[in-house]
Amino acid sequence: MSRFMIGIDLGTSGAKSVLLEESGDVKATAKSEYNLSRPREGWAEQDPEDWWGGIRESVRATMEESGVEPERVEALALSGQMHGSVFLNSRGSVIRPPILWNDTRTTSQCTTMKERIGEERLRDLVGNPILEGFTAPKLLWLRDNEPENYRELDTLLLPKDYIVYRLTEKRSTEISDAAGTVLFNVKKKEWEEEVLRKLDLDREILPTVRESVDVVGSLTAKASDELGLSEETLVIAGGADNACSAVGNGITQEGRLLASIGSSGVVLAHTDSMQVDEKTRLHSFNHARPDSWYLMGVMLSAGLSFRWFSRNFGELEETVSEGIKADSYDLLTQEASAAPPGAGKLIFLPYLNGERTPHADPDARGVFFGLTDSHQKGHLVRAILEGVSFGLRDSLELIKAKDIEPEEVRITGGGAKSDLWTQIQADIFGYKIKKTSINEGPAFGAALLAGVGAGIFGSVDEAIKETVKARTVARPNQEKVQIYNQLYEIYKSLYSSLEGDYQRLANIESPGN
Ligand code: XUL
Repeated sequence: MSRFMIGIDLGTSGAKSVLLEESGDVKATAKSEYNLSRPREGWAEQDPEDWWGGIRESVRATMEESGVEPERVEALALSGQMHGSVFLNSRGSVIRPPILWNDTRTTSQCTTMKERIGEERLRDLVGNPILEGFTAPKLLWLRDNEPENYRELDTLLLPKDYIVYRLTEKRSTEISDAAGTVLFNVKKKEWEEEVLRKLDLDREILPTVRESVDVVGSLTAKASDELGLSEETLVIAGGADNACSAVGNGITQEGRLLASIGSSGVVLAHTDSMQVDEKTRLHSFNHARPDSWYLMGVMLSAGLSFRWFSRNFGELEETVSEGIKADSYDLLTQEASAAPPGAGKLIFLPYLNGERTPHADPDARGVFFGLTDSHQKGHLVRAILEGVSFGLRDSLELIKAKDIEPEEVRITGGGAKSDLWTQIQADIFGYKIKKTSINEGPAFGAALLAGVGAGIFGSVDEAIKETVKARTVARPNQEKVQIYNQLYEIYKSLYSSLEGDYQRLANIESPGN
């Protein structure tokens, strides 16, 4: 009798569940969307009840679609959006809406952290920069702005760990999500006492930290009833979305890199020991595979840049695509493929929402550089696909500077569905590109962690060996590599040329953004 496991990704736009058979066959997947609320400029919050509803619906839908009996699902694990803060009181109720990874209200708390600890000391202790989106400044924000809520705070949980709590009544986290709080010593794998002391934070509010493959418990009667699963189902600790995505794509040995184009863009490299970029332009987090780490660069507007263009200038393609039942992105990409490599010397800087890696600059903005009256829509689209790939190359170069020589780059996310974008990535990165047969994102990696936790697979490596198959989908074309190498030099220098102007623009008081 086959054994089954479920992986659930608690994303920013919705919850996605994947029901996996031990053979590696995906039996069913389902997604249930929920809202993101932006109560003020720069704020991003969600309602944990929406998360719970999304998870319930997506799990029920996968079970119904597959017809698998609940008793045969041995374990489940969650992957989740990182850095969010769920503030629980002693009764286990959520005190105020969680503040998410893409919320930028905490600039003044970041300054406090830098003043009290020092950026270099922070880097040495937690291996990471201090950014608005990370968890620690959110705690300080609560203390500074909502003292009555702070007084009520009993436990700080990460988003997916709140769901684990609803499933098991156990308050805990695991290593890959703890890493994104900047309260965690990524090398020693424990909460960092010096940071807590200097910020005057109580250690008691932080939960127990497990390994990603550890068993947390089994489903409570109430949770099993709501999800339609057996009370025997084990809940495994799971991992941060990027760590789970890495597991699902087999990024668990040095030399393998993952480039992901979703709304944001990520380049991630497995490392056998903890590595830190001296200027902390890369994040350095614990991996979901025990005793390993990863280095990661995050771009804020990757697929989002293409979506922005399509929504504002793709009306014609939208209308045509409806008539011929095609995808408007495919039509725009076709126009882009008619433009030459380099888009007729047109370079796009993809900083539509500021940037994280390599320029942690909330004031950076998007740019088309090199426009002439001979450029057409296809050139602009091609420049966007290329500009995003140059942005990913920035992270790739930082990773290479840590003496990690990529053997192959695996791609994932929505961008990996486009042949043109895939080839552009091969030509801009200068590496062979591989893709796995399953493009189900972090939920698939979480399902593998569930399988390891339940003993269906002996280890993360074994789970990957048995289920993840990657094949080469593009190789660099040397002629195009030469063109892109020259353009990349200009791409890089454009930010330095504009940095001061971005600042001056930000300082102007004018209507609109
Ligand atoms: C990683 C990060 C994002 C979120 C989005 O540092 O902020 O990738 O995890 O889900």
